[in-house]
Amino acid sequence: MRMLGIETSCDETAAAVVDGPRQVRASVVLSQIAEHASHGGVVPEVAARLHAERLPTLVEQALREAGTDWPDLDSIAVTAGPGLATSLLVGTAAAITLALRLGRPLWAVHHLDAHLQSILLDPAFPMSLEGSRGLALLVSGGHTCLVLVDGKVRRLVGATFDDAAGEALDKGARLLGLGYPGGPAIERAAKGGQADAVEFPRGELSDRDAAELRGLSPALCFSFSGLKTALLYYLRRCDRAPANDVAASYQEAVVDALAIRLRRGVEAFSPDWLGCAGGVARNDRLRTRLAEVARELGRPLYLAPAEYCTDNAAMVAAAAAAGRAEHVEPPEALCIRPTWPLPVT
Ligand code: KG4
Ligand code: ZN
Repeated sequence: MRMLGIETSCDETAAAVVDGPRQVRASVVLSQIAEHASHGGVVPEVAARLHAERLPTLVEQALREAGTDWPDLDSIAVTAGPGLATSLLVGTAAAITLALRLGRPLWAVHHLDAHLQSILLDPAFPMSLEGSRGLALLVSGGHTCLVLVDGKVRRLVGATFDDAAGEALDKGARLLGLGYPGGPAIERAAKGGQADAVEFPRGELSDRDAAELRGLSPALCFSFSGLKTALLYYLRRCDRAPANDVAASYQEAVVDALAIRLRRGVEAFSPDWLGCAGGVARNDRLRTRLAEVARELGRPLYLAPAEYCTDNAAMVAAAAAAGRAEHVEPPEALCIRPTWPLPVT
């Protein structure tokens, strides 16, 4: 089953060809980071224009690198949401056009479901655990949540109250004058720094917040807006620690907040395995910390490979190949879903 995947939900233009949920033939990604960097964040109109300019040649490149041709494609998968509406429109329009022109079925994929699928692209993930119960931390620039993966069922058990983990790193990096994207910039700046030099909050939510968490347990939810404010106030003071100590302490606050919730989630749900995906999962300190938690709790940990952590189309095609997608018939009926909640069954 050869599937073409297309991803344009934010600021990465991506195309990929897979032969099944875990067999990637080619995956190409063009990041727009350089174009957005001077604005300190993604400018939706610029993102959409760049997707439109680049996607056609990128799809051809994916086919070429996969050593395949149009008639060999069995179906087309595309991210339909959540994401920036103008960005999603470009990818879905291309996917509809290809599905119609090639006479192939079209699959609409949920972006977070695709990130979750990227955990199974970890070559260490054993086939014996496919279909078993896992607890996954999904950490990106737009989303931060804890998801129970139970066979085909997904259950959201924790989410952020305000900023996403990646957003906290991006905003922190801006305050520290480190540029965009903030995650890798803070990781570099933290090298050699003392992670306990500055005390930053871990964003604990109280029972009072529970009403706004729509039934989720406050103990499994995240809050990062106080962290950014704490950094702002810290930087206004004059008795400052060295820059790498501040960066390391800030990064540690994000990493620790995530590790704490994963640990609590294991205690609450006793999953067979642990996983982590999304752009922030590229972070080495987070990968090390989660490995420690997994070892202590006696659970195997699977991490999305670095190239499939940040947005890519391999995970989109893989999710569709794994049956995690909606068949859209006729293809032109596909609508973008910028605020699509994670499908839970
Ligand atoms: O998954 P992604 O590419 O896009 C979204 O769907 O949001 O994630 C982008 C986020 C950004 O906030 C970026 O700062 C963060 O992932 N990120 C990292 C690292 N690389 C990217 N955060 C921490 N450490 C990294 N090495
Ligand atoms: Zn993403």
